[in-house]
Amino acid sequence: MDKLVIAGGKPLEGSVPISGAKNSALAILAGSLLSTGECLISNVPNLLDVQVICEVLASLGVRLMATPDGMVRVDASTLREHTTPYHLVTRMRASFFVLGPILARLGQARIPLPGGCAIGSRPVDLHLKGLRSLGARVNIGHGFVEAFADKLVGGNVYLDYPSVGATETIMMAATLAEGRTVIENCAQEPEIADLADFLIKMGASIRGAGTETITIEGTTSLHRCDHRVIPDRIEAGTFMVAAAITKGKLRLQNVRLDHLQAVIAKLVECGMEIVPEGQDLLVSAPNTLKSIDLRTLPFPGFPTDLQAPLMTLLATINGTSVVAETVFENRFLHVDELLRMGANIKTEGNCAIIQGVPVLTGAPVQATDLRAGAAMVLAGLAAKGETVVSDIHHIDRGYERLEEKLTNVGASIKRIPTTDSVLV
Ligand code: EPZ
Repeated sequence: MDKLVIAGGKPLEGSVPISGAKNSALAILAGSLLSTGECLISNVPNLLDVQVICEVLASLGVRLMATPDGMVRVDASTLREHTTPYHLVTRMRASFFVLGPILARLGQARIPLPGGCAIGSRPVDLHLKGLRSLGARVNIGHGFVEAFADKLVGGNVYLDYPSVGATETIMMAATLAEGRTVIENCAQEPEIADLADFLIKMGASIRGAGTETITIEGTTSLHRCDHRVIPDRIEAGTFMVAAAITKGKLRLQNVRLDHLQAVIAKLVECGMEIVPEGQDLLVSAPNTLKSIDLRTLPFPGFPTDLQAPLMTLLATINGTSVVAETVFENRFLHVDELLRMGANIKTEGNCAIIQGVPVLTGAPVQATDLRAGAAMVLAGLAAKGETVVSDIHHIDRGYERLEEKLTNVGASIKRIPTTDSVLV
């Protein structure tokens, strides 16, 4: 597996182009299965996860073509397969998003259970509860979810937890159901609104995306459309922390301010200077930052995907910070790696108590999952000496051209291919 070698201590300065949102692109690519025409999706980031979901779509008989400039053409008029290869879904859990669209289009679907991952057990019970509320017969056997419905019928679904994936699965399936579907206590993440915008362009009738209740009036079919994926708020937040932890000054190009309110609020509370300029965000760090407390929550709360990056920053700020991770049950895997670099962090259940240290020291560390991997890069950028981050395929899942973007703003970071590199 490749490694990243980082020489820390350089303040970052310059402009960073923010790529399209991974978590929006994955849902939208799955949603393109609902169309009987050719959809043109732009600003799709070139990531391992995107490559995997494109392989899933191709395995279903869908015609698609991706170009290096982030354009993906998907023609799902030829959708004929109702089941996906086991190894693809178990390799990338977001492939499970194809369940709702395939069921809605073909009346049946057989998708591998995605299973858990490093950060938690990742159940899909709310996805299945939602499909059952639309009249589907759903059972689990031999590692697969099997769903059948001659015709989906609109219904009311209350989500016990505002799950992003479950909201997306139910919203997509409901677009082709007979009648009205109301999803209550649904997720409000920007990726939900982006998916809804895409589906509405295809002719779906959806109201309330981005609020806690979404209403869908089903229709018989959806046509083609063009759509540009929103900017990635988690990538933007990661670079905001990069400016903070290196005491640098960055211009983040093409962000959505309304997607970053909680992140901006917490970094301003730390003492960062954050100034919007058109579609850009100017982020600069004063000499000293303040420790803060943090609790991750569903949107519009602070995003769990930025908990590891922010904790890394707090590990370098004098004072005591408390971080509570309320979304996933095992999302502190980065703590042990930060301890190798001299951080002072104690965890107690879903809480971490961070005593800031004057300096982190470079060390060999592991990317245990996507966002923990990003946190290791951030720690390396700030640390004294050299940091070697291994297992960086996790990072390649969610950050496009990370080392190129960091090098362009003054970081000393190199990718070292190792002989046992395997294509993921
Ligand atoms: C999406 O995952 C994102 N992934 C995650 O980003 C993100 O962390 C998460 O939303 C929360 O914002 C994609 O969009 C591809 P959830 P998802 O369903 O949909 C529980 C990253 O780093 N739950 O909102 O799987 C679940 O266990 C990734 O980019 C159920 O109990 O998240 C968790 O505790 C990581 N039953 C909580 O809800 C269900 O049926 C939030 O999960 C579904 C979820």
